[in-house]
Amino acid sequence: MSDSVMPGASQLLSKYVDESQAASLRAEHLTCEMLVNPLGMDEPHPGFSWQVVGTGYNRLQSAYRIIVSDDRQTVAEGLGTHWDTGRIESDESLHIVYRGRPLSPFTRYYWTVELWDENGSHSAAAQIAWFETGLRGGSWPATWIRVPDVGPEGKLPPAGTTYDNEFSLDPCLYLRCSFTIRRPVASARLYATALGVYKASLNGGTVGDHEFAPGWTDYAKRLSYQTFDITSNLVLGDNVLAALISDGWYSGYVGYNRRKPAAHYGSKPEFLAFLRIVYEDGEVEAIGTGPHWQAGRGALVYSDFLKGEKCDATLAAPGWDRPGFLASGWRPCGAGRGTPAKLEAQREEPIRVQMEIPAVAVRAAPDGSWVFDFGQNIVGRVRLRVAAPRGTTVSIRHAEALNPDGSLYTANLRSAPAHDIYVASGESEELYEPQFTFHGFRYAAVSGLPSQPSLHAAVARVLGNDLRRTISFETSSEIINRLHANIAWSQRGNFLAVPTDCPQRDERLGWTADAQVFFHTAAYLADVSAFYRKWLIDVQDAQSKEGAFPDVAPRICSDRNGAPAWGDAGVLVPFWHYERYGDVRILRDHYASMRRWMDYVGRANPEGLRLHELNLNYGDWLSLDGTASKPVLATAYYALTAQVMAKTAEILGRAEDFAEYTRLHEKIRSSFQRAFIDAAGRVQGGTQTAYLLGLYTGMFPTELEEAAFSHLVADLEAHDWHLTTGFIGVRHLCPILTAYGRPDLAYHLVLDTTYPSWGYSIVNGATTVWERWDGWTKDRGFQTPSMNSFNHYAFGAVGEWLYGSMAGIGTAGQAGAFKKFSLSPILGKGIEWCSAEFGSPRGPIRAAWRRHPEGISYEFSIPANTTANIILFRDVGARIFLNNREIADDQDIHTVTLSLGSGNYQVNVWHKHTSHTQAC
Ligand code: BGC
Repeated sequence: MSDSVMPGASQLLSKYVDESQAASLRAEHLTCEMLVNPLGMDEPHPGFSWQVVGTGYNRLQSAYRIIVSDDRQTVAEGLGTHWDTGRIESDESLHIVYRGRPLSPFTRYYWTVELWDENGSHSAAAQIAWFETGLRGGSWPATWIRVPDVGPEGKLPPAGTTYDNEFSLDPCLYLRCSFTIRRPVASARLYATALGVYKASLNGGTVGDHEFAPGWTDYAKRLSYQTFDITSNLVLGDNVLAALISDGWYSGYVGYNRRKPAAHYGSKPEFLAFLRIVYEDGEVEAIGTGPHWQAGRGALVYSDFLKGEKCDATLAAPGWDRPGFLASGWRPCGAGRGTPAKLEAQREEPIRVQMEIPAVAVRAAPDGSWVFDFGQNIVGRVRLRVAAPRGTTVSIRHAEALNPDGSLYTANLRSAPAHDIYVASGESEELYEPQFTFHGFRYAAVSGLPSQPSLHAAVARVLGNDLRRTISFETSSEIINRLHANIAWSQRGNFLAVPTDCPQRDERLGWTADAQVFFHTAAYLADVSAFYRKWLIDVQDAQSKEGAFPDVAPRICSDRNGAPAWGDAGVLVPFWHYERYGDVRILRDHYASMRRWMDYVGRANPEGLRLHELNLNYGDWLSLDGTASKPVLATAYYALTAQVMAKTAEILGRAEDFAEYTRLHEKIRSSFQRAFIDAAGRVQGGTQTAYLLGLYTGMFPTELEEAAFSHLVADLEAHDWHLTTGFIGVRHLCPILTAYGRPDLAYHLVLDTTYPSWGYSIVNGATTVWERWDGWTKDRGFQTPSMNSFNHYAFGAVGEWLYGSMAGIGTAGQAGAFKKFSLSPILGKGIEWCSAEFGSPRGPIRAAWRRHPEGISYEFSIPANTTANIILFRDVGARIFLNNREIADDQDIHTVTLSLGSGNYQVNVWHKHTSHTQAC
């Protein structure tokens, strides 16, 4: 699509906007390492970002000044004791890297920024933001602790009962330590991590609201720690710091039911923490984990991601986490083995409970259980009210769908029973919510209750990394609205610690192709900057010594490596991340490993055709035509990565590498043409995906592109205008149809409700994106249970087209993190209006359009300090009104580009014969 600006457009357009409302600019939404006021940060040179806000039109930042100090008042007075950039003539507002005095550990730094606008007018400083450093690599005044080394398998002696279970899972470990505070405290922090997952508490109150901390990394290489401000939780006198730990990803069941004897990382969870107390008199005290901590058991019989949780409230040790508890039978902790891994402050937003969803129905199932329907397939768990005699066993099973008889469809969970069990204590009303597990479900079957539960007895609690949601999107079509909602729900639940393929069966892994095809969609839905940056470190950590990027990251299946489109994520995602978020450091951090990957692929495929895989080639996973040419896919990806490497080298100023990868790209392209493309523009394999990838990566000779495109269209027609693509092709379907002039077909595909289509799943009740087009069909019912997830975001990669083309907000491949972007809505049959707002890194961008009898009206908002090309398509003779004034231009030109600065715009494109000259 043309990116060219109408000649003289900027000058021409200034007379159509009223610039009178301009007031001074403001910096808002200040972030440090793309996080709002991060507590605990180890980055020695953090990047500062802000959004420029200002009323009026064509607003620009011409200069900025950042000041940083460890004293808030100093910053309020305009002094930067640690860093004062002075006035920097620059319009940049993202990732300004700290170059001040070395940062000390355990210190809160305050910062603000002031701006100068396009006229040199100076703004007041922004509201003060802060970041607080963590240990910065310093040693921990604490030692690792774990279960005492007594009894068989290191278990504590059973407290009157056995914790044995069919999964051989150990009971959760309860850890406590008493200490006394004798004088007033100025501030206190808890630094904590686990090999496993933990929840810490102080005097009985949970510390923070993180779930599944410390998250998932390659625990052999790096481990995140968390920082909590617990100043207000400490009391003068006796205090108890406590922690509950469980297996989590470290020693629990993860990925294909693997665990013991081949435990992924270790066999018993461990905990490491210390309190850092700063007294009002300035003295500092550290209270860390060590042999003086006590270990015991409690109600949690086991808690595992795949198997579920058993909580026996009759075993609870009330008050175990408070002062005054007689810890009789508790033992000194065992010494943990620890880890050689790097301990680093958590880089991404934590996992939190995102929301609660009430049940919409409760019905009896054939087996007598009560099935709650939450109306939405989610990732999370159930909070259940229980009123039952002591010792009553209540069971909660989870499923995404129901069998025809109303029972739960659990076959697709494979070896993940997703079964939570609660044994009632007998109190008049108990509230049970599992601690260290999550499930993918819409339905929960509850059995064992003495009487029929009310609809309000259960709520679903939604879990996921707490990312800033950045899109609102609505159209006149219920199908499209639901498709958008399904994509957003699949992202919300599957962005849990890492971007997982699915949340329900015994898999839940960071499959690299899924995460790359969905990257652009994800980056519209939420601010995934910190989340993907962290995951890219997992990808890098998982690179083999030969240079192969993994098929899943963190790596847990050592045999899965380097598949085309999967391993390539290690090159593509850093680059796309840079384009989207504008942080060049990500390219620097990954460049060496990106090169190693290219060498790895190149060594096996010296001719430029990627025919030889050292490992698997999954092809166009889950495509419907089954005949996708794997070498075509692999070679197209090879070309794409070579091109991305050339661009990256250019950005990093590596001229030789740029030349090398440009040559490589050319070599791959000509090999591709010789081997796979015939004189009529047909590509080997002839699948939709083969054409899509060939066109997307520019593999066809220019003169054959149109022919190739017509073969693609013919294939759609041959399938009665249906798609056949799998994971890899699906992302390109609507964008390529649109770019080559058939947006009508893209509209047809997204609105279609016949099999196979997104709409088919929707009219059959989907509330998330299905893994397979035929996950369930009217004729055949459920697909094979061995692979049938109903919450798999990969096919949701079409979201990029919904937001980028139907709404028209930017497109992939636009560098600069929306500093300069396009607003180019593509209208199509079947939709009367569309309205979207996207919270870009530089501020909110809005695009909306609506059909009228007179023509089409558009509304656009362009954030301050950015510019946009509004690109519209009109019928010959249509007249254009910008903010109610007609633009005098050549009405024979079909594509109109309006080059505009910031502001809110109304554009009307009225038919030739309409009498209207004003906006409605
Ligand atoms: C996963 C996919 C993944 C694929 C690789 C599946 O089991 O669910 O999403 O990409 O394996 O072939």
